[in-house]
Amino acid sequence: MKIICVAGARPNFMKIAPLMAAFRASGGLEAFLVHTGQHYDRQMSELFFDQLGIPAPDANLGVGSGSHAVQTAEIMRAFEPIVLEQRPAAVLVVGDVNSTIACGLVAVKLGVKLVHVEAGLRSFDRTMPEEINRLLTDAISDLLFCTEQSGADNLKREGVPAERIFLVGNVMIDTLLRNRDKAAASTILADLKLAERQYAVLTLHRPANVDDPAILGGLLDAIEQIQRRLTVVFPVHPRTRKNLATGPLGKRMEAMGGLRMIPPAGYLDFLRLMSCAAVVLTDSGGIQEETTILKVPCLTLRDTTERPITAEVGSNRIVGTDPVKVLAAFNEVLAGKFPPPQVPPLWDGHAAQRIADILVEKL
Ligand code: UD1
Repeated sequence: MKIICVAGARPNFMKIAPLMAAFRASGGLEAFLVHTGQHYDRQMSELFFDQLGIPAPDANLGVGSGSHAVQTAEIMRAFEPIVLEQRPAAVLVVGDVNSTIACGLVAVKLGVKLVHVEAGLRSFDRTMPEEINRLLTDAISDLLFCTEQSGADNLKREGVPAERIFLVGNVMIDTLLRNRDKAAASTILADLKLAERQYAVLTLHRPANVDDPAILGGLLDAIEQIQRRLTVVFPVHPRTRKNLATGPLGKRMEAMGGLRMIPPAGYLDFLRLMSCAAVVLTDSGGIQEETTILKVPCLTLRDTTERPITAEVGSNRIVGTDPVKVLAAFNEVLAGKFPPPQVPPLWDGHAAQRIADILVEKL
């Protein structure tokens, strides 16, 4: 039974890796991997295929960057002939990026079953492009696999029949657990001359944070204070680098002696960096989940999360972008005021296997 699996942007790669492995091992499922090319730099794409042992894509659409409309449309145009040619039993998409909705839409319009992994997550903030991608993908999916109970609850509330919803755990955590030992061999701490728990990790790439100079400026006010107390390691996403290069804020950051701006890190180096950090400050979705498992305090620089379990049982705190609040939360971390996190149900490294078993039964 052939399934076209779609990956396009960096956070997709750690989700698709364990699925490809589980499908290969299942005997009954033949995976045909499509890379849309949404992310294309070696540091954003190829490195992840190498490190995570993802097989080379069977097709690369090479779509690249563009406005939302252009990127989504180009992916759809390039993906349609592949579905027509391969005639799969299903198309499987992961996460919430533009590649997810673009390929999902193509599949259902051709009458092919759609499978969504990481379904049901909701920030309830429709200004986030990912929230629109999540809502639309879930509305047209036939089988919906959830990482946490809130996802299943949201779907039921939106009218998705219960028999289509499966709470299976988190494929991103499958990848984390599988690669933890390998990451321990990374030399990134020595390369950057960092000592364990003596530094913070920062990531920022959401348009709402990095495209708005007022918000980014406020965050820099907090970071300026933080880097005086703790070295801050900041792997800079291409979108953020572009914004910093063209505005005055880049210069301000360069002047901060305790802030270490580095290129986007590969998976193993970044896992090592997170594992040994005193605290992680981020606007990413996936990092909230990874820090929960690593038991490292995470301050989420957004007003909402679509992953509430990480704040309920995990080490994640939703602090927003107000510098006063960010600093207050940072001080609490340093004072050791973060309760020890628990592992969310089913985040045990076997989510991809559960998905493979259900697909064999249902398709
Ligand atoms: C995308 C996802 C976001 C995800 C993020 C992870 C959507 C709507 N957004 O955002 O959910 O959290 O990926 O990284 O799908 N660029 C490069 N090299 C690359 C890729 C991008 O230089 O390999 C630059 C380009 O200038 C591009 C910009 O980054 O215009 C943004 O890339 P894009 O794929 O549009 O969105 P992301 O911000 O990466």
